[in-house]
Amino acid sequence: KKILVLNGPNLNLLGTREPAQYGYETLADVEQLCRDEAAKHGFEADCRQSNYEGQLIEWIHEAGREIKAGSMVGVVFNPGAYTHTSIALHDAIKGADAIVIELHISNVHARESFRHHSYISPVARGIVVGFGVKGYGLAIEALARLYPAQ
Ligand code: DQA
Repeated sequence: KKILVLNGPNLNLLGTREPAQYGYETLADVEQLCRDEAAKHGFEADCRQSNYEGQLIEWIHEAGREIKAGSMVGVVFNPGAYTHTSIALHDAIKGADAIVIELHISNVHARESFRHHSYISPVARGIVVGFGVKGYGLAIEALARLYPAQ
């Protein structure tokens, strides 16, 4: 079974983007970490990144269908700045019945007040915030514990 790891806008810049906030690991490093962690639990990580809200919405719809069909357990989703702006992503998760763990590398609550509100949290199963890129491993473990491999 698959776990979809979805990264939103600007996360392709990981490694060089504000390293004090997000660390020095690249998106490729993070995706490798996710594949390794998923494999430990008997799952396969499908890792995708897009800077486009519409593309993220379509992948959430697809995930909802795959979760229903039983070929996917859920989604680890770092929506980037769309977290704080996107009613469309909120609606997509709700409408597709997608099982989503919301993830942020930084502790958004210790940062600017415009990062304190999330449109995604009310439709997320759980939230992993502030553990750096190690959070991706924790989120995958959380999904694996909720939905043990059959
Ligand atoms: C982020 C936090 C967001 O506020 C920000 O816009 C990002 C990354 C994080 O992973 O900490 O792009 O989601």
